[in-house]
Amino acid sequence: MAPNISRVCVVVLLCYSSFVAIASGEAPKSDTDLLEFPLNLEYLEAEFFLIGALGYGLDVVAPNLTGGGPSPVGARLANLDNLVRDIITQFAYQEVGHLRAIKSTVRGFPRPLLNLSTTSFADIMNNAFGRPLNPPFNPYVNSINYLLASYVIPYVGLTGYVGANPQLQNATSKKLVAGLLGVESGQDAVLRSLLYERKDQVVRPYRVTVAEFTNRISALRNKLGNAGVKDEGLVVPREQGAEGKVTGNILAGDNESLAFGRTPEEILRIVYGTGDEHVPGGFYPKGASGSIATYYLK
Ligand SMILES: *[C@@H]1O[C@H](CO)[C@@H](O)[C@H](O)[C@H]1NC(C)=O
Ligand SMILES: *[C@@H]1O[C@H](CO)[C@@H](O)[C@H](O)[C@H]1NC(C)=O
Ligand SMILES: *[C@@H]1O[C@H](CO)[C@@H](O)[C@H](O)[C@H]1NC(C)=O
Ligand SMILES: *[C@@H]1O[C@H](CO)[C@@H](O)[C@H](O)[C@H]1NC(C)=O
Repeated sequence: MAPNISRVCVVVLLCYSSFVAIASGEAPKSDTDLLEFPLNLEYLEAEFFLIGALGYGLDVVAPNLTGGGPSPVGARLANLDNLVRDIITQFAYQEVGHLRAIKSTVRGFPRPLLNLSTTSFADIMNNAFGRPLNPPFNPYVNSINYLLASYVIPYVGLTGYVGANPQLQNATSKKLVAGLLGVESGQDAVLRSLLYERKDQVVRPYRVTVAEFTNRISALRNKLGNAGVKDEGLVVPREQGAEGKVTGNILAGDNESLAFGRTPEEILRIVYGTGDEHVPGGFYPKGASGSIATYYLK
């Protein structure tokens, strides 16, 4: 009898929390919902880094973490120099640990369908520049393109962890999110440092510098997120630099150099590439998973 009673309670609580959510027009956001949501981004990062650096992904490295979700589409071994391959391999295995950490705290969900094709990235770059790049941007062709493609992703995860933190109720959840945030922001810092060293380099054959690529990608994310400036490229107007004193912007931050936070809705708008959490696309052709994302897909 006891198991049935507790199951009924769970159903009632879920109904109640979605009733509240509908009343306020927002997705459910319990600790569990907020801890499960970032699995979407961690799956994306794990697959992009694993396959980019090693040529194989979670299906080989940690099949039990996929939960039987579909294999990603379009990712491939990237043509990387030794240093970048070494670093991306480390990031890749860090993401495997993150997936395991989240899934051992909350039940989570299977890997969503991920579209990591060159066209997915090319579309983002075309949107960022407001014109089609010719030839289309290919993230897998060399180290600089791969680093620029990597600039697109972990930062979004980082802002999600900053945004989730004040909403969490329970110490276990806060500890997990702080641990994830620390390493994600470390990854972002490494990627930004590698790009900053090359900020004036021209990305061939486009006649556009690395700095301009980052500025354009950040501006696109601000536009899609539709919540003001929470993203900055590697070179900014002086008033946007730390204390209004510098134009170099190796780390993004607000006017007190605190990391920007994003809501799950903003993140969905960005990673779908549609600017709308109700309209999936981009890396997630069938949408992201978990109670928050699927709330908007109904
Ligand atoms: C997956 O398998 C690995 C190695 O076999 C194990 O260490 C890990 O605990 C497993 N994870 C889950 C979520 O079952
Ligand atoms: C992946 O994205 C590309 C570019 O948008 C698209 O042409 C392709 O059909 C997509 N694949 C899947 C399986 O969604
Ligand atoms: C905190 O959340 C974790 C993960 O959801 C759960 O296992 C734990 O029981 C919760 N603790 C309290 C005190 O609510
Ligand atoms: C920093 O930004 C916040 C929010 O945009 C604003 O309210 C505040 O006045 C700014 N502080 C400084 C010192 O510019």
